Amino acid sequence: MCKTAGCCQGCLHYAFDYETPKTLVIPNIRVGCVFRFTQLLVVLYVVGYVCVVQKAYQETDSLISTVTTKVKGFAFTNTSDIGPHLWDVAEYVIPPQGDNSFFVLTNMVVTPEQTESRCPELPNPLTTCVDDCDCIEGHSDPRGNGIQTGLCENYSTTVKTCEVLSWCPLEIDTKLPEPALLSAAENFTVLIKNSITYPKFNFQRRNILPHINSSYLKRCEFNRATDPDCPIFRLKHIVSEAGEEFQDMAVKGGILGILIDWSCDLDWWAKKCYPTYSFRRLDNKHPVNNVAPGYNFRFAKFYKKPDGEETRMLIKAYGIRFNVIVFGTAGKFGIVPTIVNLGAALSFLSLVPVVADWFMLTCSRKKDLYSKEKVTYLTEGTESQMPMATSYGTQ
Ligand SMILES: *[C@@H]1O[C@H](CO)[C@@H](O)[C@H](O)[C@H]1NC(C)=O
Repeated sequence: MCKTAGCCQGCLHYAFDYETPKTLVIPNIRVGCVFRFTQLLVVLYVVGYVCVVQKAYQETDSLISTVTTKVKGFAFTNTSDIGPHLWDVAEYVIPPQGDNSFFVLTNMVVTPEQTESRCPELPNPLTTCVDDCDCIEGHSDPRGNGIQTGLCENYSTTVKTCEVLSWCPLEIDTKLPEPALLSAAENFTVLIKNSITYPKFNFQRRNILPHINSSYLKRCEFNRATDPDCPIFRLKHIVSEAGEEFQDMAVKGGILGILIDWSCDLDWWAKKCYPTYSFRRLDNKHPVNNVAPGYNFRFAKFYKKPDGEETRMLIKAYGIRFNVIVFGTAGKFGIVPTIVNLGAALSFLSLVPVVADWFMLTCSRKKDLYSKEKVTYLTEGTESQMPMATSYGTQ
């Protein structure tokens, strides 16, 4: 009746065909070993690396932290510039409170009794002069000390320099006190209070751990071996753990990092969350490229003399700035990362047959037999070899 009926039957049969792969069993112990060994490698990777080392079953969160510090200690000095002087925390910590850092003054160049007046510049090739013609009135060099008045004055009996309008006498900072003026700062202590939050897990903690009571806190001092949880640090100890000598660093100053690592495993079977401290020097201390070493800045204290004249004491302060750097991530079991990471890791199992096939077809002794059984080459034109053409022709 219909010429296309046979064809339609054929189309239908394509739609409702069930296809199933044929399995070829290779009874070869070496191929079997390669297959199982590769499987074992994948399982070891999943269990050992993904689960144990990477903890890929965990959700993670990074921390929010806040730090306050309190330095304690006294130093007594007796110098020609300022006479006998007792230093307490209000003087050597500048500014009194800072953001995750504190500065401890250790050395200084003091220029007392400066007033706004005129004086000859410090001698260098740009400022030395022979007569007034060498000096330009109103000229100011940013690297100099003031605004030139146009006069050439005697700096000393042998040298003449251009006069400047400035705070005189000028500071001479070529000679630093050595050992450092406040060498006693090595025995100062600092209490570091650090609170952290992992907002995703609603987890809060501080570095004064629950088992620390106030009497312990009054007498303890951080020591990696004996008091690893004590949040009070002796400055000398911090600097020496960073691999530096305090008295060397105190002369020209420097920047030191106090690193607090809060990496936490918040799963109930681990419950591990406490800070670990480490210390390192942050500013450049390259032994060869050591131009402009250390850390310093200037500030002045102003006074009024009884006659109303304003004078100041200029201080070029050298010291150690301690930066408190808090970091860490917390992990806790989560079903989504577990499924995603386990699925990704286990997908490597699908590569195992590829390895085993490769071994079977290239390295085993009966590879010719196996490849003949595994791969069937069709010769074009011999339709009788196509089983579908014969069994589903016209009925
Ligand atoms: C710091 O204290 C130790 C012992 O308490 C003492 O021997 C040392 O001299 C002190 N250092 C300074 C610079 O005062």
